[in-house]
Amino acid sequence: MRTCVLSAQLVSEDSAVWQLRDMQARDLDAVMLIEQAAYPFPWTRGNFSDSLNSGYECKVLHDAFGKMAGYFLLMSVVDEYHILNITVRPDLQGQGVGRLLFKEIKSLALGNGCSSLLLEVRPSNGQALAVYKKMGFDQIGLRKNYYPAGEQAREDALVMRLVL
Ligand SMILES: CC(C)(COP(=O)(O)OP(=O)(O)OC[C@H]1O[C@@H](n2cnc3c(N)ncnc32)[C@H](O)[C@@H]1OP(=O)(O)O)[C@@H](O)C(=O)NCCC(=O)NCCS
Repeated sequence: MRTCVLSAQLVSEDSAVWQLRDMQARDLDAVMLIEQAAYPFPWTRGNFSDSLNSGYECKVLHDAFGKMAGYFLLMSVVDEYHILNITVRPDLQGQGVGRLLFKEIKSLALGNGCSSLLLEVRPSNGQALAVYKKMGFDQIGLRKNYYPAGEQAREDALVMRLVL
């Protein structure tokens, strides 16, 4: 169990001030509201609790009014950080918040001796794909039938890596 909640103030390119801190169980109501608004196939509350209990690097970002703006969950595998989930509140997407989160992820990864970031994304998620390419990720693989896609259908995952 975490005994101390690390918090950091971040300033985005437009000079807005944000607060990044460890995700806790009490954040999950707000996390689930964003998750369910952001994805057609959202993570369950159990997925988030499991990640917290597994000790993954889980962070929440709040805006200057104390409202949750986004979050990310990272799993460290040897010298690589696997981005399990990165999400920005829908009304804030496309305004540089994702870039701010990636900057923080890169800095956490480098601070923990990681040399690359890895993630999976649906080929149908054009917005996320465009963001990841912009951030410098390259496709390195494909996982067949990785994601649920409704009516017992499945969708592949593109595996993308960013070398730091
Ligand atoms: C993917 C996500 C985290 C990115 O966060 P964001 O705040 O929207 O991204 P930003 O506004 O910081 O954009 C980052 C870069 O991508 C570019 N970008 C953003 N949306 C884009 C789009 N639809 N097409 C092309 N480029 C785009 C931006 O111009 C920016 O580049 P720049 O800083 O050089 O101008 C966010 O959109 C999100 O939560 N999407 C829904 C959930 C999701 O799909 N998560 C990923 C699952 S794998």
